[in-house]
Amino acid sequence: TLPKRVKIVEVGPRDGLQNEKDIIPTPVKIKLIDMLSEAGLPVIEATSFVSPKWVPQLADAAEVLKGIQRFPGINYPVLTPNLKGFQDAVAAGAKEVAVLGAASELFTKKNINCSLDESFQRSDEVLKAAQARSIPVRGYVSCVLGCPYQGKISPAKVAEVAKKLYSMGCYEISLGDTIGVGTPGVMKDMLSAVMHEVPVTALAVHCHDTYGQALANTLMALQMGVSVVDSSVAGLGGCPYAQGASGNLATEDLLYMLAGLGIHTGVNLQKLLEAGTFISKALNRKTSSKVAQATSKL
Ligand code: HMG
Ligand code: MG
Repeated sequence: TLPKRVKIVEVGPRDGLQNEKDIIPTPVKIKLIDMLSEAGLPVIEATSFVSPKWVPQLADAAEVLKGIQRFPGINYPVLTPNLKGFQDAVAAGAKEVAVLGAASELFTKKNINCSLDESFQRSDEVLKAAQARSIPVRGYVSCVLGCPYQGKISPAKVAEVAKKLYSMGCYEISLGDTIGVGTPGVMKDMLSAVMHEVPVTALAVHCHDTYGQALANTLMALQMGVSVVDSSVAGLGGCPYAQGASGNLATEDLLYMLAGLGIHTGVNLQKLLEAGTFISKALNRKTSSKVAQATSKL
């Protein structure tokens, strides 16, 4: 049975922009986040406190976080893969953070330059520092349906990593199909394994749309009881350390499907479409959202 309500986690300003080559002016990022707030998204991942050498596009993380309007009831989490990132994030006013895990040893090395075990240690340091300040921490698990370096990933491995991050204190685990290779059957097998270890109420799915499967995979997750979904306005996105990975599931397309299913989100599609048009124009690019394409022709 489908959930009555879904929480959409908008990752466009972070996942969506992190891979853009040309540096986007800070005011454009701030305006995008403000427009997404206007649209009523309950969670907007604003930026990342990572090395500017690794992700030059998000070197302005502190300015972005300080510049945005904070709407009551909306959370603005940021990525913090290590303690330095966490400290910088808190200094810039972060009230929620996210740590990075993966179901793949090789991806971990390429993405955050350490082993899986070391990544748990780093996450644990962030979690302890965050707990001391009552800051909620979300945990990502990447490569849940496949890895750009290791290929197939077993559901048991995903379950193990998800359980570890959850038991360390992450309040929510976002399961990422980083390179968008999964299909609904694989999603079902993976989620079945993870749901044995982590309550489904603490799970989110994060589907990239590289092979056009993101909406179908997300629907499978909803049917299995997941009620938190990550998506990106205009379908922006991609991970610089996962070659060929395209954007996330477009938030407009997710919202259209949820509305059609009678599932409540609190998000205003018209205002969301305006935010998508704004950022697509700023990037000088056609939107990847089918709904945005369709409605602009009406
Ligand atoms: P490192 O080089 O191994 O770190 O990078 P280090 O601790 O050895 O430090 C080296 C230098 O980096 C030092 O500076 C540090 O101060 C600095 P130097 O002395 O050379 O001048 N440094 C930092 N600077 C700013 N912020 C920090 C920080 N930490 C160290 N937090 C590190 C390790 C994790 C920082 C690096 O590998 C990194 O930034 N990686 C980028 C990770 C990333 O953002 N990936 C993309 C996001 S993940 C994703 O997209 C997947 C997801 O969407 C889910 C899915 O789709 O599956 C979440
Ligand atoms: Mg991602």
